[in-house]
Amino acid sequence: MAGKIPQQFIDELLARVDIVDLIDTSVPLKKTGRNHSACCPFHDEKTPSFTVSQDKQFYHCFGCGAHGTAIGFLMEYERLDFLDAVRDLAAHVGMEVPHSASSAQNDSKPLYELIQQVANFYRQQLKEHPKGNQAIDYLKARSLSGDTAAEFGVGYAPPGWDTLQKYFSNDSIQPLTATGMLIKKDNGGHYDRFRERIMFPIRDSRGRVIGFGGRVLGDDTPKYLNSPETPLFHKGRALYGLFEARQANRDIQRLLIVEGYMDVVMLAQHGIRYAVATLGTATTVEHLELMFRTTSEVVFCFDGDRAGREAANRALENTLPAMQAGRQARFLFLPDGEDPDSLVQKEGKVALEARIDTAAPLSTYLYEHLAKQVDMSNIDGQARLVELARPHLKKLPTGVFKHMMVTRLAEITRMEERTLSHLLGSNEPMTTSAPRPSKQRPRGNKQGKQPSLVRQAITLLLNTPALAQLEAEPQRFASLNAPGITLLIELLEMLRTSPHLTTGAVLERWREREEGRYLAKLVQQENLVDNEHQEQEFRDLLQQLYRQYRTQRIEFLCNKPTSEHSNAEKLELQRLLKEKSGI
Ligand code: UTP
Ligand code: MN
Repeated sequence: MAGKIPQQFIDELLARVDIVDLIDTSVPLKKTGRNHSACCPFHDEKTPSFTVSQDKQFYHCFGCGAHGTAIGFLMEYERLDFLDAVRDLAAHVGMEVPHSASSAQNDSKPLYELIQQVANFYRQQLKEHPKGNQAIDYLKARSLSGDTAAEFGVGYAPPGWDTLQKYFSNDSIQPLTATGMLIKKDNGGHYDRFRERIMFPIRDSRGRVIGFGGRVLGDDTPKYLNSPETPLFHKGRALYGLFEARQANRDIQRLLIVEGYMDVVMLAQHGIRYAVATLGTATTVEHLELMFRTTSEVVFCFDGDRAGREAANRALENTLPAMQAGRQARFLFLPDGEDPDSLVQKEGKVALEARIDTAAPLSTYLYEHLAKQVDMSNIDGQARLVELARPHLKKLPTGVFKHMMVTRLAEITRMEERTLSHLLGSNEPMTTSAPRPSKQRPRGNKQGKQPSLVRQAITLLLNTPALAQLEAEPQRFASLNAPGITLLIELLEMLRTSPHLTTGAVLERWREREEGRYLAKLVQQENLVDNEHQEQEFRDLLQQLYRQYRTQRIEFLCNKPTSEHSNAEKLELQRLLKEKSGI
């Protein structure tokens, strides 16, 4: 969606908004030196570690690692999605969001209305269709109460291939197809996707129906049919039951992530009104961000079998990047052969909640899971555990939680924490038996902890974008063989064309890109270079990079047989060698 708003508009918006004013209205800030600070609104604390930089138009909490731009703050603090945050901010400074951006929503409006009408129709069919009785009997056999069915809007799609076409007008065929309710045939005709199924409407966090899950009444396959990806429905972002959970609780203490529609519904019926389900997919990072905007604790609930363990490991991988301090994730395994639906009916709310209370915290789950793969009774095994943990720890955002995870690992392996952090920070394998990292270590970074030249340059540039003006010809580094060099060149070129971008505005341009996370990390690092010395430092870095380039180029040209040198290459080599000896 972000792509729909022109970049220029976002730049302009961020140029007009002052992040200090914006945050100050919800979290009163105090000026402390160059920055403003407060107790962090995203985690509990007594001494302020939340800082807002006016220069950078960026906030950052040293305690929990929360960080972002003015747009990011609204998204986190007000729990808005990107588009709504931009709208709010625009309204705040009296700007109008360009038409193309809001039209995505306006275009979808008839679709939302239409799919809601479909949901109403299915609900009505449950009561009125001659075969609706069978559906009601089925639901009764599964002990679903009428109230719960009504709360979740459960309905019935009758048998027949053209039920919706008969009910809606011809004008609706195209939009019904767009919402996935009709399927287009090769001959141009259409037929109903859902036939003779119990229908569970899937709602977005505002309560709008975006799609359906439909269950067969018997043992046919597929047991569940879900809406396809449509302009309204994105599986990777939708959480079944989240809206209902929010409606039922003013403040959600925790969310329980279960597998199925019936699990969510039956748990709600038994008073566990905080369950959500992903829709036949693994939990994505987007799901987690959505959940953590609503609550600070998520508990994954898995089957006890092997499939459940595998699902847990996938969930773990996607959870790590979301683990800022103040957020908790726990893992619960159910007895074999049970699911939350069956279990809550069998043992009731209290017993099931007692299980939930005992769910393993992420740290316990992760280290126990890894410890199973090594022999912890000897030093080699312990060292191997550190190796196994490293890639997981790497995924954690910098902050208190990560620190605590390292502390815990130090306890488990009986290592000194400082030694361990040092080992984790370096690329050296810790045991001979451990596989060597497959990636070659970057050249020019042999000192171990010292960040590479490129990384230092990017860090400086992000913190003080004006430094870009010191490099007139970023492309001269294009053939330099160093990790991250294309990112540095892109940044330099961008800042040369748009010299007034703040740090926040730069990061906003990377919102949808993977490197965005990496860039944000660099911004949060303490600035080690004094402001007065930044310019000199940056010039030095550029020069070192150039020398690195020159050395590589000379090596390349020298390795090529002289007979194959073009005239231009001959001249270049002469020039480079002369230049090198001259300095
Ligand atoms: P399960 O097969 O575990 O079913 O699928 P369940 O939730 O226990 O269903 P009941 O109790 O038999 O009604 C879990 C979830 O996986 C997705 C659905 O989201 C389902 O709720 N699923 C399952 C599908 O999308 N398609 C299928 O054919 C089966
Ligand atoms: Mn089930």
